[in-house]
Amino acid sequence: MKPEEIERMRDEALAAFAAAGDLDALQAAKVAHTGGTSPLALANREIGALPPQAKAEAGKRIGQARGAVSKALAARQTELEAERDARVLVEEAVDVTLPYDRVPAGARHPLTTMMERVADVFVSMGYEIAEGPEVEAEWFNFDALNFVPDHPARQTQDTFFVQGTREDGKPTVDDESGIVLRTHTSPVQARALLSRELPVYIVCPGRVYRTDELDATHTPVFHQIELLAIDEGLTMSDLKGTLDHMVQALFGADMKTRLRPNYFPFTEPSAEMDMLCYVCRGESVGNEERPCRTCSSEGWIELGGCGMVNPRVLTACGVDPEKYSGFAFGFGIERMLMFRHNVEDMRDMVEGDVRFTRPFGMEI
Ligand code: PHE
Repeated sequence: MKPEEIERMRDEALAAFAAAGDLDALQAAKVAHTGGTSPLALANREIGALPPQAKAEAGKRIGQARGAVSKALAARQTELEAERDARVLVEEAVDVTLPYDRVPAGARHPLTTMMERVADVFVSMGYEIAEGPEVEAEWFNFDALNFVPDHPARQTQDTFFVQGTREDGKPTVDDESGIVLRTHTSPVQARALLSRELPVYIVCPGRVYRTDELDATHTPVFHQIELLAIDEGLTMSDLKGTLDHMVQALFGADMKTRLRPNYFPFTEPSAEMDMLCYVCRGESVGNEERPCRTCSSEGWIELGGCGMVNPRVLTACGVDPEKYSGFAFGFGIERMLMFRHNVEDMRDMVEGDVRFTRPFGMEI
């Protein structure tokens, strides 16, 4: 047990601690140089066999060497811990000056803002907003609007019946008529005529229901906006001017509408209203170089239905058709939102994913 050997063991331990670059390496060096199988521990065990004088001497040397080793270990441990703490402070620092993650305030759904935007066009012309129930008497939804009793639209494949009618036309429950989820906003025409003083200028935005499957262009619950104007001397040119004004207010000054003959029981004459294609603005017509996918190069897009209010509706609502006339139109808001904002799939409007609604902004 030579003194130089003990010094060498000590020096190797000190060198290993100094060389340890982090706490894990130091832990390994600690096991190697101070553990039960380290050279100094083994040497300590061997001195038991020495004669007393040599034993005392070697014990002293080894004790001193082990003392120096554990002191150096503790010092390196403190040093490496301080280094680690300084590094963690820098790496895990939080920049409290960064903008915080605001909880986004909610905004109205694009369908709601679209509906109000359309209604506003007419409110600024003096029209009033009118409302009616979504659960509606069959009489208002159909009879008052001159639908014959066996009109196909009443069939359950189009209409959600809340309370049906028997085959003989009598209600299944003791009441005055069947009850339906309104299939259009037109029953508000009858409600407005029955409850308001003439002349009547109203616009009615609201939710309507039809037994359609949800797909890219249909939804069983959708929205319409209805307009009704009843006054003395109103003609079809008033209707046309009102429609043109609306599409110009929504799509720009070069916009216009066209009417195509059609049939609705509650208007006569009736028309389908088209607006100039909002993509090509009619320029794709006959232009083979630049076809338009949106309107199939027709130049026009179908918007909704309209017409002069049928005198039979006026009569059913107690209005003298000799004195008063007027016009009405109605169209779907979902389609309008598709046109005005290039929405391709109606399902996006009902699924409630904020990734769809967010680009419409925070309008409230
Ligand atoms: N109510 C009709 C529909 O839902 C549209 C319409 C409204 C037609 C007013 C004429 C007048 O299809």
